[in-house]
Amino acid sequence: MTDPLIAAAIQTRRNAHAPFSKFLVGAAVEDAHGHVHTGCNVENATYGLTICAERVAVFKAISEGARRFRRVAVVADTEELTPPCGACRQILWEFCGDVEIVLANLTGKTETIRLGTLFPRAFDASFL
Ligand code: THU
Repeated sequence: MTDPLIAAAIQTRRNAHAPFSKFLVGAAVEDAHGHVHTGCNVENATYGLTICAERVAVFKAISEGARRFRRVAVVADTEELTPPCGACRQILWEFCGDVEIVLANLTGKTETIRLGTLFPRAFDASFL
């Protein structure tokens, strides 16, 4: 059976607005209450204003009042599983800490990796 968090990311990926790259990404974050918040990438004609699926999912969750998170799923249609970009790693670290990141593609390949492994020695509010 498909992990429901992956299923949510696959479904949300279908809403991606990616007319420039044609690279559709879906993300889903599970909060401490078990609620799932989803996001897709939303591109912009100026390119630089594009926002990734992961950040959409996290910001949606924060705006809904969620504050603690258990897992994050990221889905793209790539044979080599697509990891979060550097900017998203920073945002995920800020809000989710050393959370489990589940990478998946559309053929059922998955891998789970902790954010601390993807993003070691992060800068965060503990330095301020
Ligand atoms: N993208 C994501 O949404 N998440 C990732 O993890 C990698 C990249 C998006 C940004 C852009 O819309 C497209 O994929 C190509 O970089």
